[in-house]
Amino acid sequence: MPIFYNEKNRSFKLTAKDTCYMLAVAPGEYLAHVYFGKALPDDDLNYLLRLDENPFTPETNDRDRAVYMDTLPFEYPCHGLGDYREHAFAIEDKKGATTCDLRYKSYRIEDGKPALEGLPATFANTPDEAQTLIITMEDKAAGLEVDLLYTAFADLDVITRSAVVRNVGGDNVTIKRVYSAAVEFDSEKMDMITLNGSWARERALERCRLHHGKQLIDSMRGESSHQNNPFTALCANNADEDSGEVYGFNFVYSGNFVSEAEVTQHKKTRYLMGINSTDFEWLLEPGEAFTAPEVVMVYSDKGLGKMSRTFHDLYRQNLIRGEYKDKRRPILINNWEATYFNFTAEKLVQIAEQASKLGIEMLVMDDGWFGHRDSDNSSLGDWFVYEKKIEGGLKALVDKVNALGMKFGIWFEPEMISPDSELYKAHPDWAIQVKGRPLTLCREQYVLDYSRKDVRDYIYGMMRKILDNANIEYIKWDMNRQLTEVASNALPRERQRELWHRYVLGVYDLMNRLTTDYPHILLENCSGGGARFDPGMLYFSPQIWCSDDTDAIERLKIQYGTSMCYPCSAMGAHVSDCPNHTVGRSTPFTTRGHVAMVGTFGYELDVTKIPQSDRDAIPAQIAEFNKYNALVRTGDHYRIGNMFEDNLWDAWEFVAKDKSEALFEFVQVMCRPNERSRRIKLKGLDPEAYYYEESTPEVKHSGAALMQCGVNIGGLWGDYQSKIMHFIKA
Ligand code: GLA
Repeated sequence: MPIFYNEKNRSFKLTAKDTCYMLAVAPGEYLAHVYFGKALPDDDLNYLLRLDENPFTPETNDRDRAVYMDTLPFEYPCHGLGDYREHAFAIEDKKGATTCDLRYKSYRIEDGKPALEGLPATFANTPDEAQTLIITMEDKAAGLEVDLLYTAFADLDVITRSAVVRNVGGDNVTIKRVYSAAVEFDSEKMDMITLNGSWARERALERCRLHHGKQLIDSMRGESSHQNNPFTALCANNADEDSGEVYGFNFVYSGNFVSEAEVTQHKKTRYLMGINSTDFEWLLEPGEAFTAPEVVMVYSDKGLGKMSRTFHDLYRQNLIRGEYKDKRRPILINNWEATYFNFTAEKLVQIAEQASKLGIEMLVMDDGWFGHRDSDNSSLGDWFVYEKKIEGGLKALVDKVNALGMKFGIWFEPEMISPDSELYKAHPDWAIQVKGRPLTLCREQYVLDYSRKDVRDYIYGMMRKILDNANIEYIKWDMNRQLTEVASNALPRERQRELWHRYVLGVYDLMNRLTTDYPHILLENCSGGGARFDPGMLYFSPQIWCSDDTDAIERLKIQYGTSMCYPCSAMGAHVSDCPNHTVGRSTPFTTRGHVAMVGTFGYELDVTKIPQSDRDAIPAQIAEFNKYNALVRTGDHYRIGNMFEDNLWDAWEFVAKDKSEALFEFVQVMCRPNERSRRIKLKGLDPEAYYYEESTPEVKHSGAALMQCGVNIGGLWGDYQSKIMHFIKA
């Protein structure tokens, strides 16, 4: 089995496919990190702890315990005992002291993977898919126990981590910080890769050398954010797409987070990930427990590409759930960029009539169908139909769309409240606010206090009325502003700092109810584009809107960054009209299709108004999407080009798991004069097998040649041209 306890040296070894993770009980009953990396045959690597290096061993020289504390590679470092590196755990006890001292108490090993209370998390489909080590640490003086949870997946290079804090004493304890994972590396010679950005340019990849001191990304916005995605890779300085050691970390959480690396005085690196402790506190009364969200850790000995493919496999099999988990998603047309707020039921039916003739399968009615919403300045919270726009009511509209053979989807922004709404008039105290201070508007709206069950119940009640009234088969759940003045009218003074986390738990609770009560509804998450593209959301919705930037060329970068840890099957991507509404660029309709095909695929345009030639191209474009979608959803994704490098071209590939076929896509961003064809090496093929490109079955080359020598890509005239090639095993 993947987890082994060596009684002799009191060490634990977790094996996850070709990866191993080792930890041990060190002198003083501290828990120490031994090794994380390529699988090794050894059961005892405790020499890596350098316990023989005097004067650092407390047994031989207790005078210098502080040096021991400040150098031991801790598995879950605490605040206050002389480990001056960044810590994972801190408390305030009943006397106001902040020192805590977690020592090893016991362990147990379980088959499978336990769920985390109230939180999304990866899961084992069968008990033999994973094994979990639960190490209990205790701080006797504070009356606390902390379970450190480690799950090793048998067939994936994945270890997950989490922590559960229990108050087993008789006094209240306040948790000041509870990160989910800390990992120690014996070197500082690593790069930190993060996905940063802003609205309309989410998840741009940045790579920096680690340096002495602390370097971090975080969010304090109440959501995972456009600005920093809760993902970090630490890799060897020379690691690239296909070679070198890489450690990927991704937080299964949708709120404030920290991802931090610290290079210490001895040129070692400590890495930590967890809920942001700024403005965080959690009061734990006797008998209560707190569960920290999960961190997914992926090891790759073959570069970033292998790390990404491991994340993709894990999320497709062990995170995403529901009816659409393994299914092609319906090809939708969304009216946002087609009409914005300016639409009526009649207009939507016109779009549906045209769309249905072209093979589009679902109409999604975006923002503006409720309350009296004609722009973004009113009605959030009033989830009843705006009769002026939707004449005859929602059911009549949905029935008409269904009669055309199309499904119907709808937009909600359930966490929000407009000051100009009936809801706000009735319940102004339901908005998150600091009593006595003005509320900060953002997009003319406030955020509802989702820590309150009465608020969630009320909103859900309104949503249910809509969902039960018509045949709705898809929901876009949006979230268009971040949190300010974070205080709750329903929490006592000593629990105010719990609100950030309670808010996220409230969102999860409602998403859980929605997906349980309406399992047939396809849920797509969204947040001002892609501000909540995180694994927490993927647990509830198999797809997430990537970005409000639908320009095919901008999307190359966004989708490249997103693919670092998220599968293409989860990327909400649409073909939109030109000039593109965000950047004003005009790209060929074919290229827009090829880029959107990497994701869930759909249209975001007024199909009654686009040029006839584009409209005529839609049926063939849909056929092409259908032809390759299974491969895109289930195959191995290889990044070949990198727009971040030179802005000239991009390319990627999807290879079937059995290597029987591969889809290669190329985009020429800038055309240059008088150049030879570009030679591009394919990846992931069977080197022994022969392949032919579908359009030239008579020409066969070995997988080895296609990977070693490459294919010639030429004959593309003009900027923004694209080309796809389909290689089939002969
Ligand atoms: C956000 C979404 C868009 C659209 C608008 C509607 O910006 O990302 O796709 O739904 O809200 O207001």
